[in-house]
Amino acid sequence: MSNSDIMKFQEPVIYQIYPRSFQDSNGDGIGDLPGITSRIPYLAQLGVDMVWLSPVYKSPNDDNGYDISDYRQIMDEFGTLADFDELMAVAQENDIKIMMDLVVNHTSDEHEWFQQARSSRDNKFRDYYIWKDAAGYDNDGTPLPPNNWISAFAPSAWEWDEGTEQFYLHLFSKKQPDLNWDNPAVRQEVYDIMRFWLDKGVAGFRMDVINLISKDPAYPNDPEVEAGGHESALWMAANGPRVHEYLQEMNREVLSKYDVVTVGETPDVSTEDALKYTGFDRDELQMVFQFEHMGVDSNPEGFGKWNDEKFKLVDLKRVLSKWQNDLAGKGWNSLYWNNHDQPRAVSRFGNDSPAWRVLSAKMLAINLHFMQGTPYIYQGEELGMTNVFFEQVEDYDDLEIHNAWREYVEESKLIPPEKMLSFISASGRDNARTPMQWSAEENAGFTTGKPWLGLNPRYKEINAEQAVADENSIFHFYRRLIELRHSTPLMITGTYELLDNAENPLDEEVYAYLRTGDDESLLVICNFTDRQLTRTFEQLDDSAELLISNYPDDAVETLRPYEGKVYRISNR
Ligand code: GLC
Ligand code: CA
Repeated sequence: MSNSDIMKFQEPVIYQIYPRSFQDSNGDGIGDLPGITSRIPYLAQLGVDMVWLSPVYKSPNDDNGYDISDYRQIMDEFGTLADFDELMAVAQENDIKIMMDLVVNHTSDEHEWFQQARSSRDNKFRDYYIWKDAAGYDNDGTPLPPNNWISAFAPSAWEWDEGTEQFYLHLFSKKQPDLNWDNPAVRQEVYDIMRFWLDKGVAGFRMDVINLISKDPAYPNDPEVEAGGHESALWMAANGPRVHEYLQEMNREVLSKYDVVTVGETPDVSTEDALKYTGFDRDELQMVFQFEHMGVDSNPEGFGKWNDEKFKLVDLKRVLSKWQNDLAGKGWNSLYWNNHDQPRAVSRFGNDSPAWRVLSAKMLAINLHFMQGTPYIYQGEELGMTNVFFEQVEDYDDLEIHNAWREYVEESKLIPPEKMLSFISASGRDNARTPMQWSAEENAGFTTGKPWLGLNPRYKEINAEQAVADENSIFHFYRRLIELRHSTPLMITGTYELLDNAENPLDEEVYAYLRTGDDESLLVICNFTDRQLTRTFEQLDDSAELLISNYPDDAVETLRPYEGKVYRISNR
């Protein structure tokens, strides 16, 4: 790939905002659109090109906006369409584009379509959703679901509708009924919604669980559940029979007509699958969010994501290198360490103790931002925000946490409460959702009222005011990385090579890789431990020039704790 071949979506650095937790403007304890607008100068200082807004549409908030009841209105707590237009205008003045979250695998059960659909079997919206008869009835007359699928948040993926005596499918909570994409009218509705926002000037879509939209019409049982395992309906619905046909249609009818950045959230994709979604010759999406590297610390034999074990660096290297290598030249990666569903990166992959937090957060930033792909920064990552520990489950908000608590602590009693609190603090989604830490003032400057979710008590030491004032902060380090992205095409175009065995990495302490172009290479070296190590790299010749480092000087072969550095090397 040469510089001239760089495609538009490969250039931006994208910042994700979880609006509920970003900035409250009116003291109700809930972040809102005017709050975001007021912080655009902060984002401009950081230098990001685009902001992905987690959903801001009208929603009863069963799943914090991922359950939409009106796709053309703003959630009451977040403001109005006029506030949205104001946000767009201020963002534009600051050269920041807006990417919307498109949640169209399901709607809220409070959406007009679903209200209509459940009103009678012959309503014209009935077929907007997926309805099935009971498979039978047990002795006391309880209807049995059509198959054994388990939803992501609740026991069965099927909910019985008393009124019309059929089940409807919900891969997520029962307040998130799945849309029936096999119905062409549904697809046209979705395209209309997309045009509505594109015509307002939004520049991108992040598409929520978009690889789940096409289900096998036979609705086969999940063999994992049959075998006594606890698998989820997500895996049964992923990459279904017509998903590519639908995305190609969406591309033809909508996306190709606009200048737009697209990223699909795609649980359970292999690199082969991802090439079907993102292949340069496929006209579907530009990139996907894959989850394989998010799985390196999950425990399939235990309770999946609910554990507090540490990842192994060799696993992370193997997974990330596979993605770098398999997509090279054919499709495009997204790069991310965290989002609103994941624990905080510095706590998970770095070290959040006061001694190492800043260094390890910078090292992680280097490690990710020099890879091939479009980097995403999740709010607070640029401050090195950390995981939180709440002492009682009541202090958490997330329905996934509460459902897991019910299932493992209260019902099956498989996990003792203290253990589960530790698991939640290591992997629960609310780690990402505690309010953004703006200052050391009360409530971290997030709100003058009572925050909807408790703050991380570390805000006194970790906050934006401190970080912006301190030239050596993580914030300014991210700012420099973004500047480098903009001025170093090799970060986009260079080939990737893991300096280890890519299939079977051996070095458990250091992650080093090379990005190679025609004239120059970038050598990236990251020490993932809190120990001093020694490594030699044959690529380090006289031409090597230190491009960026998280230490003030260079000790060459000595790698200090959590040291991360990049050399520019001439290939001539
Ligand atoms: C995605 C979102 C997550 C949400 C789910 C259902 O995974 O990122 O927050 O709960 O989809 O919409
Ligand atoms: Ca508010």
